[in-house]
Amino acid sequence: MRDLLVEDLGEGGFRVEAAAGGRAGVARVREGGIDVVVSDLRMPDLDGFDLLRDLKAAEPSPHVIVITAFGSIDTAIRAVKLGAYDYLTKPFDPEALVLALDQALSERGLRQEVARLRRELARPYGLDNMVGRSPAMQEVFGLIARLAEATATVLITGESGTGKELVARAIHYNSPRAKRSFVAVNLAAIPETLVESELFGHKRGAFTDARNDRDGLFVEASGGTIFLDEVAEIPPALQAKLLRVLQEREVRPVGATRNEKVDVRVIAATNRDLEARLREGLFREDLYYRLNVVHVELPPLRGRVEDILPLAEHFLARVSARATGGRPAPRLAHATAKLLLAYPFPGNVRELENLMERAVALCDGDEIGVDDLPPQVRERRGADSLGGALARGLTLAELEREYIERVLVAEGGNKTRAATRLGLDRKTLYRKLEEYARGVGDGSDGSGGSGGGGGSGGSGGSGSDVNDPPSDTSRNPR
Ligand SMILES: Nc1ncnc2c1ncn2[C@@H]1O[C@H](COP(=O)(O)OP(=O)(O)O)[C@@H](O)[C@H]1O
Ligand SMILES: [Mg+2]
Repeated sequence: MRDLLVEDLGEGGFRVEAAAGGRAGVARVREGGIDVVVSDLRMPDLDGFDLLRDLKAAEPSPHVIVITAFGSIDTAIRAVKLGAYDYLTKPFDPEALVLALDQALSERGLRQEVARLRRELARPYGLDNMVGRSPAMQEVFGLIARLAEATATVLITGESGTGKELVARAIHYNSPRAKRSFVAVNLAAIPETLVESELFGHKRGAFTDARNDRDGLFVEASGGTIFLDEVAEIPPALQAKLLRVLQEREVRPVGATRNEKVDVRVIAATNRDLEARLREGLFREDLYYRLNVVHVELPPLRGRVEDILPLAEHFLARVSARATGGRPAPRLAHATAKLLLAYPFPGNVRELENLMERAVALCDGDEIGVDDLPPQVRERRGADSLGGALARGLTLAELEREYIERVLVAEGGNKTRAATRLGLDRKTLYRKLEEYARGVGDGSDGSGGSGGGGGSGGSGGSGSDVNDPPSDTSRNPR
């Protein structure tokens, strides 16, 4: 029968090999390249169920179609339970076998496709998608590789847009936990009253809206990794509870009377100076040390200038592959590259990524010109002294705006520090920035700025615009 099948199936277009017994078959499968095994369940040298077990344990494991004796449906069921893909009962029509084989092969194809897509999805977070030539980033890459093996809690710090989340994902997707969930939580984005039940879950009736039991994100991340973004924002009342989770690896849902075990790796990130918050008593010291078992510090992009051009090229290639279906990525003109190198990137890598996306959309040749960059990058030429301002004929309002924006950049986008340096109170700075964003307040047609469109906020002709009243909403209490 074996010889007959080899011949039949071979003529039907399958590539067939025969093995004279169970052990020989298993040995052949282990060498690889076998998609489907067709086997009798009764063989002289190996019990059919042991055969199944060995085949299922093989790597890669083939689909198995078993042939059972007439009337032994129990055996067939048992085989399927052990992982057989299908079974045929003797005597069978060769056509039925061909049908079963076709099905097994196409299902296998789908499975491989799914596995491939999964890998592809995970890949954007692999190290090969992280660019960085600077010694600082090279060190970070080495750290990621080593951290992926461990389960230690990691604290990632760095300004916004430096790649904290990307690093967290890279650690997860390179770790043995890669097949389980990566759950990202932004603690700054959840209302304070909801953080506890979001993180730890709740029992039905724990509060007014709790109509059902609900798992928290820690449980959802079970076996995987939870990424606590903006961890500095965790409400003080919850810091002790988070500490307990880190110490005991147990969570207690809101309204529950007992803890539940969780196996979760914790990666936290913040763009705040946690040590300063520690000193101010806003962040618990014990929690800080529990989070900060391993520290990854991502330097701002302006501190690793050698990464700017490789990153820019990386984003250009990615954006244009996506946007134009394979048109070669445009190059950076020499002058463009020079401007990028001179720009301090307050928004770090994220800002560079956005710049490149915008540039590809604007660019109509195969080169990104200076004009494809936004004004704040372009105008850095010649903005370097009062002489330059004079030569460019700036109004006081325009000069003020440039100076304010420049200081903000120099302070890494930190508005509090920028306001201090400018001698403004923070509200005034915020209001000015808002006006700039709306395109008012810089004397748009060079008229000197007096009056102008300043009434847009309906402020009832308020006089000075330096000393800001507290806020718009507090203006009309009477
Ligand atoms: N080294 C890098 N290589 C490639 N892309 C990066 C790198 N660092 C950051 N990015 C990209 O920049 C953007 C901002 O990164 P993200 O991890 O969200 O920053 P953060 O969490 O620090 O604000 C993301 O789109 C990310 O993919
Ligand atoms: Mg982020």
